[in-house]
Amino acid sequence: MSPEVKQAVVLVGGKGTRLRPLTDTMPKPILPVLDRPCLSYLIGSMAEAGISEVIMACGYRSDQLTEAIGDGSDLGIEITYSYEDEPRGTGGAIKLVEDRLDEVFVAANGDVFADISLKGQIAAHMRTGAAATIALTEVRDPCEYGIVGMDGTGRIDRFKEKPEPEEAFSNMINAGVYVFDRKVIGDIPADVFHDLSKDLFPLLLERGDRMQGYVLDGTWRDVGRPSDLLGANLVMASKRYGDMIWGGKGIVDSDTRSPFYLGAEARLVGSSATGAVIMAGSRVCDSQVTNSLIMRDCTVDGARIENSIVGDGCTVMPGAVVSNRVLGHGTVFGEGDVGGPEVF
Ligand code: GTP
Repeated sequence: MSPEVKQAVVLVGGKGTRLRPLTDTMPKPILPVLDRPCLSYLIGSMAEAGISEVIMACGYRSDQLTEAIGDGSDLGIEITYSYEDEPRGTGGAIKLVEDRLDEVFVAANGDVFADISLKGQIAAHMRTGAAATIALTEVRDPCEYGIVGMDGTGRIDRFKEKPEPEEAFSNMINAGVYVFDRKVIGDIPADVFHDLSKDLFPLLLERGDRMQGYVLDGTWRDVGRPSDLLGANLVMASKRYGDMIWGGKGIVDSDTRSPFYLGAEARLVGSSATGAVIMAGSRVCDSQVTNSLIMRDCTVDGARIENSIVGDGCTVMPGAVVSNRVLGHGTVFGEGDVGGPEVF
């Protein structure tokens, strides 16, 4: 435990355009992973690492965020909210709360699903005396992310945002969880849009300030795209329940294969489900669900759902086939319908 680091800023002001239509009515950080806002896992990881004050840097749909995340009393920490009238970018949002920050603090993107141990990253930051310590994770295809190159001591010596395949010199990407020395905020200009990856990190690198890479410890997923949200749910279902089928009395005359999760008051009747997360209050009858996420309070009857995400409060009618689609909250989807953006 590192008693010196007590504060975190969580960046939750983005519009989440890649997750439309789900984010048209709900900010991305509170989209659910196993019936909990995806951000709550990161906040739990922070509390476990000794963070006692979390400042949420909000913009888009901040009322819903405040309501879903609360004041932290359930975790024994304090959560406060900073509001932007217009988006300031990830750096600009931190600049706005500069006066409230200690010498060393954690900052993180709120749209990463992270069930991680932060203690090692904080300890590495203290040990190396870096200005910024960036959590890294390895991915198969780094082209959608910011890639990072390091020397033999873990010191970062290169960055490239969204590289073309031939430019990808590493599979290590910036996972959006940082430990910062407060002095770096001095490099962020006030009252303008400023992006950490595009503006701050290149400046620190150019000036020779030490930036350290730290390969993160735990389960991490970017939740930027529909396939990521689906993946985070299925990974957590298998991590939490392994091969155990979870659902108890809610499963009647059905065939289920893991990963599988059934939320409170949800029912699966006369159906088959393989790789399925069915959230609280949903009812699935006489249907087949494969590799899919069905959010809260949905009704699915006599349908087939594969490689898809069904938003809160949807109705999927008899004969419908939902294949590789995202259905926005409250959609009514019938036989022959094909709407919604693709998941993969
Ligand atoms: P897309 O529109 O799909 O790219 O999503 P996004 O803009 O919501 O997320 P992006 O991956 O660009 O940003 C990473 C994190 O920073 C997310 O958790 C966003 O909520 C947050 N973020 C992005 N821009 C801002 C901003 O201007 N202000 C604040 N406070 N947070 C931001």
